[in-house]
Amino acid sequence: MVCQHTSCLAAGSAEVLAAFQAVEEINVQVKASGCQGQCSCGPTVRILPEETWYCRIKPSDVPVIVAEHLVGGKRVEAKLNPRIHISLSF
Ligand code: FES
Repeated sequence: MVCQHTSCLAAGSAEVLAAFQAVEEINVQVKASGCQGQCSCGPTVRILPEETWYCRIKPSDVPVIVAEHLVGGKRVEAKLNPRIHISLSF
């Protein structure tokens, strides 16, 4: 789900949505969403059903998320939303 509400749109989420929609080698549904409550750190991308929340996603991040997460099954740690995915390593 790629947020297409006001703040995320202003940060470029339409281009992020288009980048996901252009990927053909993945068998996932790509959907636009309304606000997901993470407006200050958009564009917000949320992967379901496992509830992975990515923040400040740019179109150039999309190939990485596709390869590492959607194909490889491993979260892209550097792009996780820290409000939701709190790191315990400090
Ligand atoms: S506008 Fe995208 S999370 Fe609120």
